[in-house]
Amino acid sequence: MTLATDESGLGLDQTEELILVHDRSSGLGAAVAIDDTTLGPAIGGVRWRAYPDEASAVTEVRRLARVMTLKSAIAGIPSGGAKGVIFKPLPSVSGSTRREVIEAFGRLVRRLDGTYVPGLDMGTSLDDLRVMSTQVPGICIMEPSEQTAVGVFVGIVAAVESRWDTDLSGHTVLIQGAGHVGANLATRLSAAGARVTVADVDAERARAVCAQVGGTMIDPGEVIGHPCDVFVPCAVGRLVDADSVGILRCALIAGAANDVLSTRAGADLLRAREIDYVPDFLINSGGVIAIHAKRAGWDEDRMTATVGSIGTRVRDVLRTARDTGRTPLEVAEEMASAQLGHRVTVPD
Ligand SMILES: NC(=O)c1ccc[n+]([C@@H]2O[C@H](COP(=O)([O-])OP(=O)(O)OC[C@H]3O[C@@H](n4cnc5c(N)ncnc54)[C@H](O)[C@@H]3O)[C@@H](O)[C@H]2O)c1
Repeated sequence: MTLATDESGLGLDQTEELILVHDRSSGLGAAVAIDDTTLGPAIGGVRWRAYPDEASAVTEVRRLARVMTLKSAIAGIPSGGAKGVIFKPLPSVSGSTRREVIEAFGRLVRRLDGTYVPGLDMGTSLDDLRVMSTQVPGICIMEPSEQTAVGVFVGIVAAVESRWDTDLSGHTVLIQGAGHVGANLATRLSAAGARVTVADVDAERARAVCAQVGGTMIDPGEVIGHPCDVFVPCAVGRLVDADSVGILRCALIAGAANDVLSTRAGADLLRAREIDYVPDFLINSGGVIAIHAKRAGWDEDRMTATVGSIGTRVRDVLRTARDTGRTPLEVAEEMASAQLGHRVTVPD
């Protein structure tokens, strides 16, 4: 395909394969970016949401696929990075059923012949994966957010210890997004003694989580700039940019959301403000580890140990960054690149 503009922050030659599909019978409009298969089949969820135009969908799918490459590589699993987006038809304006659209996506996955391993992402469900599996063998039908939350939790514990040489007791954590991962994390962080604040655009969700953990709820519009020790993004990406970085009032950023930095320069801006940033692809790899474990037939102990090792990697990255004067992002990219045998970075 030819793109009029490339706003992905990756050069156009940076994605191993980009597939854009229009399926006449179902009306499916979708893009799959296979970012890198050096280490194995490329794992990446399928996001279904409205985009202003196709170019925005392509930008997002390429950025998120790159994050998946870094995530698998730094986790040390033999998988690559990919992502899928469905950008039409929107159920409200289309005559197609959801089933027909997902079946068409399944046929697209079949044509990719095992190079792309789809999973869940915003807007898709386990039922969708079941429908896909009627069109293509080998779909991994699982909800990985429990292991994502476990990995983020051990990563936060490690980062707090690295920053303050303490455990979580008494530290204030602000969770943006009380969904699958955020709600789970709230319980874990609260049980470990942290004081939890929650914000969600779905106020009912935030209220329920606060009631459960004895937390405080704030307006989602107040998140950037709300004082806390640890800011835990578990909702949207591209939060840190030249404008927001000056407003942040936290010492640490460590959460599940993908693509937290709008550009790589965000890592330098955070360092200048002495905010420790734990790269998203380093700390949120629990889910991709769980998917690989299921596909590879690992036993529970092996999977648990590998997710638990996220804490060790977070400690190593923060220590090396401090000792060498580099950002944690640079150190984590270097670790992932060493696994891949070539340099890979987050989008600029
Ligand atoms: N689920 C996983 O295993 C996994 C793995 C890796 C990364 N992630 C990333 O972590 C994030 C959370 O994943 P999830 O599975 O919990 O998603 P989810 O859809 O279950 O929850 C997201 C929550 O964020 C809320 N939200 C959306 N926009 C918001 C905003 N601007 N401010 C405050 N709240 C907002 C939603 O209402 C929802 O409650 C996503 O960015 C996802 O891509 C998830």
